[in-house]
Amino acid sequence: MRVGIVGVSGYTGLELIKLILTHPTFKLTYLATTTGDNMVESIHPALQGVITMAIDKASPDDIKVHCDVVFLALPHKASMGFAKKLWESDVKVIDLSADYRLLQETYEKHYCLHEDAPNAHKGIYGLIEYYRDDIKSAKLVASPGCYPTATLLGILPFIPYIDTNAPLFIDAKSGVSGAGKNCTETTHFVSINDNIFAYNPLKHRHAPEIAEKIADIHKVDINVHFVPHLVPMTRGELVSVYATLKSDIDPLEVLKNHYANEPFVRIREKPVDTKSVSGTHFCDIFAAREGNALFVSSSIDNLLRGASSQALAAANIMCGLDESAGLPKLAYVP
Ligand SMILES: NC(=O)c1ccc[n+]([C@@H]2O[C@H](COP(=O)([O-])OP(=O)(O)OC[C@H]3O[C@@H](n4cnc5c(N)ncnc54)[C@H](OP(=O)(O)O)[C@@H]3O)[C@@H](O)[C@H]2O)c1
Repeated sequence: MRVGIVGVSGYTGLELIKLILTHPTFKLTYLATTTGDNMVESIHPALQGVITMAIDKASPDDIKVHCDVVFLALPHKASMGFAKKLWESDVKVIDLSADYRLLQETYEKHYCLHEDAPNAHKGIYGLIEYYRDDIKSAKLVASPGCYPTATLLGILPFIPYIDTNAPLFIDAKSGVSGAGKNCTETTHFVSINDNIFAYNPLKHRHAPEIAEKIADIHKVDINVHFVPHLVPMTRGELVSVYATLKSDIDPLEVLKNHYANEPFVRIREKPVDTKSVSGTHFCDIFAAREGNALFVSSSIDNLLRGASSQALAAANIMCGLDESAGLPKLAYVP
């Protein structure tokens, strides 16, 4: 099957290239950026000796000609500019941005005016373990944000057992690649080296995404209090969730039963770390309780399970392939 990636000069675009190159069925036929006119091995020296392929200036018409499946590894707003021109085509679309993840009113409150309003609600949320059946027939999958992926996989099994009137506190840490390839004052080496700090505390855009999906899956509204931190790592995300139990449960048993048939969710007997999932599609989860205090901790590779490998898993399902085809399992350890 012919696969295109728009946004290949970015971090998630590069991860997608690597994943597709080793995929048993997908074949790269189209690579694009804003300006094109380059070779992929020139913008990503790590690919020299691996692949030689031209990069085009991104165009919806070219996507229709060259692709059965296209990944939009683009910033929000840029993505919908392409996606809105692909609804009438046969191309299956996986959008890594936030453009089709949320209800239109939630999106417009936290991002910008939606430029594809008639289709804003048509994206299927790509959290594989919870939306698998809907993804099978999806035209466009809205791949989840990295923080919502780790948070939701961790807390969703516990929603029936927690006091949903109490606030849900989420403390998250991410490596700097989560912010994309463009350097800012916050992601500058001098700011982040040997340092750690919170950013957008209680105001981050991923809080409404987490709340909306909990409401969609469990039909309950919860106050989500989300504080992300940047840590001096390249990749990796660790999420700690604090909730109040209303039931007498064994948290690890709940997790083990809930994810018994999910090969890419690993339940850990000890608190999780980021290195064990780095370079993989795994999400590792640990949970513990003391009285009615519940602690859930999950870890993912933000660029893979938080973005590109989750998008690939969605593409596999959309195309009727083995869901696990091409998904990486071997961690960058040590
Ligand atoms: N990084 C993560 O961990 C992560 C996790 C989950 C989701 N996401 C989401 O995935 C998307 C991509 O993230 P990223 O980290 O890969 O970002 P990035 O490193 O900043 O890369 C963005 C890419 O988009 C291209 N681009 C921007 N505007 C374009 C346009 N109008 N037409 C064509 N190409 C355009 C850029 O190309 P040029 O070089 O031409 O500018 C670049 O290749 C974002 O929506 C992000 O929120 C990222």
